[in-house]
Amino acid sequence: MFLNIEKLSFSYGRHEVIKDLSLNLNIGDILAIQGPSGSGKTTLFKLISGLETPHAGAIHIDSNCVVSIDGHCIRPEKRQVGFIFQDYALFPHMTVFQNIAFGCVKMPKPLLKPYVMSLLKEIELESYKDAYPHTLSGGQMQRVAIARALASRPKVLLMDEPFSNLDESLKDVLIPSLKTLFNKHQLTVIIATHHQRDIDLLATRVLYLENGSLVDKKG
Ligand SMILES: Nc1ncnc2c1ncn2[C@@H]1O[C@H](COP(=O)(O)OP(=O)(O)OP(=O)(O)O)[C@@H](O)[C@H]1O
Ligand SMILES: [Mg+2]
Repeated sequence: MFLNIEKLSFSYGRHEVIKDLSLNLNIGDILAIQGPSGSGKTTLFKLISGLETPHAGAIHIDSNCVVSIDGHCIRPEKRQVGFIFQDYALFPHMTVFQNIAFGCVKMPKPLLKPYVMSLLKEIELESYKDAYPHTLSGGQMQRVAIARALASRPKVLLMDEPFSNLDESLKDVLIPSLKTLFNKHQLTVIIATHHQRDIDLLATRVLYLENGSLVDKKG
């Protein structure tokens, strides 16, 4: 299994949000997670990416243990996990180019520019490289957030309600092109979404977050 989560538990104070949660994904899987507001979708993403530390359980990515209860813990920037936040979280004072370049801080300067330009080409925003986020449409911001997450060459991509600000016609264009991009980069993707349309267009599997654990889709 490429992503293996074993009996994960996590609480905020006394409030146990994730309980004994297990999950196995293969490389290239695109899993949609559904669950009501407050069910713990964002919390699960924080645990996988390393922004929170579980109280029990373990996570392996590509056979490497990234966190386990014996205290072993790999820092977020070393996990090769990309995280696209619920609100995109682009840096407002940076241009599109700078936002994407931020994702590859360690790359030598001479390689950086052509690499960022190649990502801009993939998201079809080359002509917007000097634009600031507030001048972009929701769909364009979404694509910049995706390019920034891809810039660090992650193995796992977590997308938290990424399409909530897009209208249906834009989704129909954007999501299939994303699917092609994910296949090309051999990404294993988890997407938290309330929208059936997103799932129909993108997901290869669907699970529900219920009482802190992932369960199969009903019906
Ligand atoms: N930093 C925090 N401190 C305390 N409790 C928190 C914190 N963050 C989240 N919670 C609580 O943990 C639970 C799960 O929150 P989480 O944000 O993971 O839900 P979610 O499924 O992402 O919801 P939504 O669909 O609204 O984004 C909620 O009850 C929330 O109030
Ligand atoms: Mg959330």
